[in-house]
Amino acid sequence: MIITELIEKKRDGGEMTAEELEFLIGGLVNKEVEDCQMSAFMMAVCCNGMTDREISDLTMTMMRSGDTVDLSDLPGVKVDKHSTGGVGDTTTLVTAPLVAACGGTVAKMSGRGLAHSGGTLDKLESVPGINVEQPLERFEQIVRETGIAVIGQSANLVPADKKMYALRDVTGTVKSIPLIASSIMSKKLAAGADAIVLDVKTGNGAFMNTLDDSRKLARQMVRIGDDLGRKTVAIITDMNRPLGMAIGNGLEMKEAIDVLQGRIPLTDPLVSVCLTLGAQMLLLSKLAETREEAEEKLRDALVSGRGFMKLKSMLKAMGGDTRYVDEPELLVRTSRIIPVYPVKSGYIGSIDAKQLGLAACLLGAGRLRKEDSVDPAVGILMNKRYGDRISENEPYAYLYVNNEDRLDEALALIEAAVSISDEAPAEMPLVYDIIE
Ligand code: URA
Ligand code: CA
Repeated sequence: MIITELIEKKRDGGEMTAEELEFLIGGLVNKEVEDCQMSAFMMAVCCNGMTDREISDLTMTMMRSGDTVDLSDLPGVKVDKHSTGGVGDTTTLVTAPLVAACGGTVAKMSGRGLAHSGGTLDKLESVPGINVEQPLERFEQIVRETGIAVIGQSANLVPADKKMYALRDVTGTVKSIPLIASSIMSKKLAAGADAIVLDVKTGNGAFMNTLDDSRKLARQMVRIGDDLGRKTVAIITDMNRPLGMAIGNGLEMKEAIDVLQGRIPLTDPLVSVCLTLGAQMLLLSKLAETREEAEEKLRDALVSGRGFMKLKSMLKAMGGDTRYVDEPELLVRTSRIIPVYPVKSGYIGSIDAKQLGLAACLLGAGRLRKEDSVDPAVGILMNKRYGDRISENEPYAYLYVNNEDRLDEALALIEAAVSISDEAPAEMPLVYDIIE
C-alpha cells in the first residue's frame, strides 16, 4: 500500500478498508507513517467523516496498537465509566465507590486534566502519598480485595492514541466524532472492562457544545461498544455550568468525600447525576433489575457510609494518607481564600463552565502547558449555583489561592463567565438522554 494514495482516498471521500486502517495505524506506531501524513489523513477524516464500519475498524486497530488488559481472572462483570470531560465534575470519585459498595467490580483507568476540564488522576493525587501508577498485578489485587481501583493508564496502552491525540491537539483536528469516539473507546476497550457507562457532556464546558453533536457522539460510542462485544450505555448530561460546587483537585476530592459522608443533600445535582450513572453501572453488572432498585441500593450505600469506606480503602491501598480523607479540610489549605462578589443583586443567569475551568487552571489547578505541575489545594469553590438568587454583599465564589501571579487574569475570566440577570433564568435539565 502507498500512504499518499490512502490520504488521497480519504480526501476524496472514500471509505477505508480494515487493512488500510491497519497499515496507517501500524505505520504511525512504528514510524513508517510520518506525523505530517497522519495529520493530513486525520484532517481528511474531520472533513469527510467515516462510516460506522470504518469507525469500529479504526477503534479496533487503535486498541490493538499496544498492551491490552485482561481482567477475566476477576470475578463478576467488570464495569467502567468514562466522562468526555467537564468542569467541577467529580462523578468518578463518588460513583465508583458507591457501585463497589453495592457489590460491583470497578476496574478503571483514568486520565489527567485536558484543556479546561479536570481529570480524576490529578484529583486522586491531591491525597498525599498516593501512587496512581500501580503495576497491573497490584491493580488487579486491589480490585480483588476492595472491589475498586482507579489508576493511571499504563504506559503502553493505545500508543496510537497518544500520538494521534498530540497531533490533533496542534492541527485543529480534535473536534471530529469519528476521532473522538475511536480515541475514547479504544482506551476503554484496551483497559479490559466488560461493560462501559459513558457520561457524554453537552454544553459550554464540554468538548461537544450542542445536544445534537453530543447525541451523535454518544450513539457512535455505543455502536462501537456493541460492535466489539462490550455492553455500553451513554448518558448525556449537562455541562452548561459546573456540575458540583468545587473546581480544583483537592476541592473536588473534598466535595466527593463530603457527598460520601452525607454532608451534601441527595437532591444535589452532583449526587443526582452520580446516582443516574451508578444505576446504569449496576444494571450492566446485573446487580439490579430496574433503575429505581439500583438507585435505592446506591442511596443506601451512601447513607450507610459504605461508599465512603470503599473510597477510603482504595486510597489507602494505593498509598494515600487517610488522615486527609478523615479530615478533608487538610486537602484545601491555601495561603488565601478570596471571595468574589457580584456587580449587582439578581440571579445567577448563566455560567460559562469552560471559562471557569480555565480560570482554575490560571490559579494552578490545571496545566496551561503540558509540562506544568498542578497545585492540589487551589481552585474555585462556588457559593451559588445557576438560577440562585444573590445579593450584592454575598460572594458567589471563593478562590483558593497560593500563587497570585495570574490572579487578576483569573478574576477577570470568572467575572466574565458569570452573568447576573434580573429575572430567574429558565431551568435546565441535568440529564438529557440515556442511549443504550
Ligand atoms: N477524550 C479523549 O480521550 N479523546 C478525545 O478525542 C477527546 C476526549
Ligand atoms: Ca476525562
